[in-house]
Amino acid sequence: MMAEAAVKRTPGRGRFITFEGGEGSGKSTHIKILAERLNAAKLRTIVTREPGGSPGAEIIRHLVLSGMGKLLGPDAETLLFAAARDDHVRTVIKPALNQGIWVLCDRFSDSTRAYQGSLGKVEPAVLNAMERVTIGDLKPDLTIILDVPVEVAMQRTAKRRGTGAPDRFEAEDLKFHQDLRDAYRQIAAAEPQRCVLIDANADANTVAARIWAVLRDRFFTAGADNMATSA
Ligand code: TMP
Repeated sequence: MMAEAAVKRTPGRGRFITFEGGEGSGKSTHIKILAERLNAAKLRTIVTREPGGSPGAEIIRHLVLSGMGKLLGPDAETLLFAAARDDHVRTVIKPALNQGIWVLCDRFSDSTRAYQGSLGKVEPAVLNAMERVTIGDLKPDLTIILDVPVEVAMQRTAKRRGTGAPDRFEAEDLKFHQDLRDAYRQIAAAEPQRCVLIDANADANTVAARIWAVLRDRFFTAGADNMATSA
């Protein structure tokens, strides 16, 4: 085990890592595994999510996933996601990063680009304007996009849900989920510096190893597999 890891990072600032992907792509599982690994390496890490992550934004989450936003139409539904993001960024994400904490976020602005933009046909100009207001120059340092065939993802969500009712987006049809997968693949291709597409159609250990390999390359010096650091 290495005594001190060499972490390639901006002194004093945490890293902002977002996880993206369709329903059932395994984001929650892998965010948890990664957080445990970073915390074990003594890098202070929090896990948060969108929509939600702050008390105000969690109220909006409840509203949107109930299907209420759909009734209002794509633009208004997008405004609800933006309002939630504004609160979350201001009260949770930025303060944590400024304290040197690593922030792992389950979904962020790429979800709006994929769900409301590519699928909901909300104009890019509208999305750009909302991003300026809600996130400004806060870009994720890294975005992990988990990619799985739609049939596999739908089986996973059905299993997870059991006898419960599907939420607003789980209830969409197969074509929606296929288009969603395409939208994410396009995002990954358009921003290769920030985004890494991970083949998540494998067992959890294999996928976790793929994710860790990306972090190792991006943020740590070579060989820092079992690192410990005084972040
Ligand atoms: P999840 O957190 O369980 O994945 O549920 C959040 C749902 O909200 C998911 O179906 C994706 C959707 N969503 C959007 O449509 N736009 C957004 O900006 C975000 C953050 C999520």
